[in-house]
Amino acid sequence: METITMIHAARFLDQEVVVNAWVTNKRSSGKIAFLQLRDGSAYFQAVILKNQVAPELFEQVKHIGQESSLKLRGTVQASDRSALGYELLVSDFEIIGHSEDYPITPKEHGTDFLMDHRHLWLRSSRQHAIMQIRNEIIRATYQFMAENEFIKVDPPILTGSAPEGTTELFHTKYFEEDAYLSQSGQLYMEAAAMAFGKVFSFGPTFRAEKSKTRRHLIEFWMMEPEMAFVEHEESLQVQEKYVAYLVRNVIEHCQLALKTLERDIEQLEKYTQLPYPRISYTDAISLLKKNGFEDIEWGDDFGSPHETFIANQYEKPVFILNYPKGIKPFYMKINPEDPRTVLCADLIAPEGYGEIIGGSEREVDYETLAENIEKFGLDLDTYAWYLDLRKYGTVPHSGFGIGLERTVAWLSGIEHIRETAPFPRLLNRIYP
Ligand code: 4AD
Ligand code: MG
Repeated sequence: METITMIHAARFLDQEVVVNAWVTNKRSSGKIAFLQLRDGSAYFQAVILKNQVAPELFEQVKHIGQESSLKLRGTVQASDRSALGYELLVSDFEIIGHSEDYPITPKEHGTDFLMDHRHLWLRSSRQHAIMQIRNEIIRATYQFMAENEFIKVDPPILTGSAPEGTTELFHTKYFEEDAYLSQSGQLYMEAAAMAFGKVFSFGPTFRAEKSKTRRHLIEFWMMEPEMAFVEHEESLQVQEKYVAYLVRNVIEHCQLALKTLERDIEQLEKYTQLPYPRISYTDAISLLKKNGFEDIEWGDDFGSPHETFIANQYEKPVFILNYPKGIKPFYMKINPEDPRTVLCADLIAPEGYGEIIGGSEREVDYETLAENIEKFGLDLDTYAWYLDLRKYGTVPHSGFGIGLERTVAWLSGIEHIRETAPFPRLLNRIYP
């Protein structure tokens, strides 16, 4: 008899199978018991009829606690009682691991309680759905990059340089030297692009940001493509094509998950339509000023109310182009049409999810870059290798970083980023 996962139940209709699962809930009357089960692939129901199993087995159902693990034997049946469309009619089962007094009950729990029990909370159907979407975004990323001839390059996690500014660095010792946890792989990806043309990274990044918002994690994962011989306009086109591709794959491959999360699929469909709208930073400032945001001045960075207001003017993600150079990192190329600004864009997600991509064309002029490094208070020796890239066959190049967890939050339609990572690192939380 075959051991199956219930996500493939359709293939085993009316056949006898073995399923290994945990009990999420149960209900029984005199003659029939229903077990709500989870086998890792899906949430489903098993039915036990008193007159079809051994009497002591039916009696045992009463003593099965929530989250006990079972090996079940039974027949796969079609069922319109569950989202899955199939259930298991049980002929036999054995308890593998007992569970009593499981702390997460079907009633409501507060966020702190759930976060303290994150190792168990992960078992819920909602968390399963979010992790399925996270997994799909990662899978589709590798597929998109392969289809478009990017190769994956892994930048180091322990670094001596600070691409995104020095205030948010996690400091550590590297034997006798100082080292930092990577904020972004970008500078290394630029070296890789000069070696291999089109590259991308996908890895953990760290920001010691004292922000406690629904969009910030201390540790998050980022996809960072970098492309040689590519100017900013072409990079924007890659960005929107990639994001639309992610949305399309999530719609196509995560139907059960989106249903569990009650995500409006028609809303998501809109995000697959290209191109995405664009507005310049300067126009965005005027727009904000005209609409009651009187305090903001040209040169200020946007806060999340500003981003949300701008995003709400559109039905799709929107690119905000050409920020002032003073609020962006040292490596961005000056905009030749307005040297107060740089050739960059942030992609702002709809529905209040904020910035999901930051990208730019990179400065390639040796002197300008060396000046910027000093102006930003960085150490020229630490960046000597990076400057070398401008010495030996420099070319126009552009790249961007897209935050995995912000993208998961947006496509899942969930309120807070803490649920998008299996074990999120948040301000004041490193347990579990
Ligand atoms: O805009 P950021 O800081 O850009 C960079 O790091 C560039 N070096 C990327 C590049 O050009 N290769 O970060 C990029 C993205 C943001 O748009 C956001 O999605 C995500 O990373 N991000 C965060 N996600 C969760 N928590 C945080 N604290 C984040 N900070 C940035
Ligand atoms: Mg940014």
